[in-house]
Amino acid sequence: MSLRVKIWPLVALAGALCSARAFAAPTALGFADGRSGQSLDGAWHVIVDPYDNGLLDYRNQPRPNGYFEDAPPKSKSDLVEYDFARSPTLEVPGDWNTQRPDLLYYEGTIWYERRFDAARSANGTRQFLQFGAAAARATVWLNGRRLGAHEGGFTPFAFEVTGQLRPQGNSLVVMVNNTRWPEAIPAMNTDWWNYGGLTRSVRLVETPAVFIRAARVQCARSDAHRIAGFVALDGARGPTPVTIAIPGADARVTVTTDASGRATFEFAASPALWSPESPKLYDVTITAGGDSVHDQIGFRTIETAGTEIRLNGRPIFLRGISLHEEALGRGGRATSRADAEALLGLAKELGCNFVRLAHYPHNEEMTRAADRMGLLVWSEIPVYWTIAWNDENTLANARRQLGEEIARDANRAAVILWSVGNETPVTEARTRFLRTLVADARAADPTRLLTAALEHHPSGAHGERIDDPLGADLDVLGLNEYVGWYDGLPAKCDTLGWSAAHDKPIVVSEFGADARAGMHGDALTRFSEEYQADLYRRQLAMLRRVPAIRGMSPWILVDFRSPRRPLPGVQDGWNRKGLVANDGTKKQAFGVLRDAYRALAAGSR
Ligand code: GCU
Repeated sequence: MSLRVKIWPLVALAGALCSARAFAAPTALGFADGRSGQSLDGAWHVIVDPYDNGLLDYRNQPRPNGYFEDAPPKSKSDLVEYDFARSPTLEVPGDWNTQRPDLLYYEGTIWYERRFDAARSANGTRQFLQFGAAAARATVWLNGRRLGAHEGGFTPFAFEVTGQLRPQGNSLVVMVNNTRWPEAIPAMNTDWWNYGGLTRSVRLVETPAVFIRAARVQCARSDAHRIAGFVALDGARGPTPVTIAIPGADARVTVTTDASGRATFEFAASPALWSPESPKLYDVTITAGGDSVHDQIGFRTIETAGTEIRLNGRPIFLRGISLHEEALGRGGRATSRADAEALLGLAKELGCNFVRLAHYPHNEEMTRAADRMGLLVWSEIPVYWTIAWNDENTLANARRQLGEEIARDANRAAVILWSVGNETPVTEARTRFLRTLVADARAADPTRLLTAALEHHPSGAHGERIDDPLGADLDVLGLNEYVGWYDGLPAKCDTLGWSAAHDKPIVVSEFGADARAGMHGDALTRFSEEYQADLYRRQLAMLRRVPAIRGMSPWILVDFRSPRRPLPGVQDGWNRKGLVANDGTKKQAFGVLRDAYRALAAGSR
């Protein structure tokens, strides 16, 4: 039976998942962490189900008494061939791959089950089940009733369960699947591990009947003395007054929503501005009807002028590094505040004021830590390499992931760049697809910059040119180049020049070389620390010669797992382009970049 046929029922399921032709609005609740409710993190029972037996019968049709029923046998004669209560457990949040050796390479379905009691809720309140993320897709049942599904492994989603909870023994069953599909985002091929599972927190969240579902409170585009944004209420029964207060900046305004509960606002205020050197966060409170939410928000402006990137009106050079969302030391998905601070702490030690969170929205602990620690952020959705550009479900999926990413981090001052794609081969269909995402992002968030990691081509004997048509639509041109690793030897950097078809700032979003920590040789010995360090020196000298280059995020901070890296004794399933090994050992190139960034921070280009 060919693989494609076997997946069909899943694709049918996927059809159900992403049949939204239109751009589906984010479902997750903003400000959820500050709301009353209960965490459902911890040990969940699981059933590993490679054949989707919990959902489909022998004819590949949805089966009536599937695992979602979570129903133990009613009598000794009742035939039930699963039992969550006696099944092993996995930790949530967390990927399944690094929790059990037999699941390291597992791609398919795992059923998660959790029983919980729900204290009787106050009259008129509403309840939601909020998931930080489920990789790569999830279908959710509560007490045997299907709540819905979500596609996309890196953004939050929620289901309303008001009136569906029991005081005791609620059964929450989540069918999580990380099978790779050509029509999915990302698609079949990635240079990172296909971690599966309930990789981020799960919470039961309680709200008043009318509540603040989403809001953005940021500086108006390129005006540090005006605060602008919107508030969206859920459940509003008509125009409702909303107050936004920033006591620390002596600012307070009340606006009235339209009948649907939405209001935009703009008012004068002069908060101290957020920057990497001074990551000032303000307590912000939004009140509407009987609801009140709070957040810690920084205020800054970000814009471009010619080939300059300007933070708070002043030119800035982005001293960055790229990183994956993998926990230092432990490996697997990073999930906690401590995981985030360990990774970003290394970036600070490197002298960074910027990080590229590759290639998907990282967890919220990461962007909030960047806010606190003073690191500017490039955030992206996993539109990576080759995607089904002509598939309208794939486009709807990408648009939804982008909308969910922007909605979640709308108030993170650290986040300055939304990236809509990474190394996507130029075709008309591709550019049309990405232009739709650019338009969505501009509509959803007029305060931030748009970028993508673009392609480049040789131009003349000693030149490379960024001539990607999508450059016309972006604010910042992202450039991935591997001169000296996939493209020649490091000496090639010494004579190479760069140009671009668009007069815009360039951020070199990737360059690098693999090196196994502790492996030594001369500067021409591949995989040695000396080769990597030499490549960094020559790359930095090459990039200094290009005035339009206003930032960089070399590939990559820490070695990471990849199914595409088998070289025995060197890679062993890891991409070794990190400046730090996954056990925290620093390689020589770490010092090379740190010294260069120190000089840059001191003002010498
Ligand atoms: C690519 C890609 C990365 C990958 C890197 C590499 O450019 O964007 O995801 O890991 O190159 O080859 O190491």
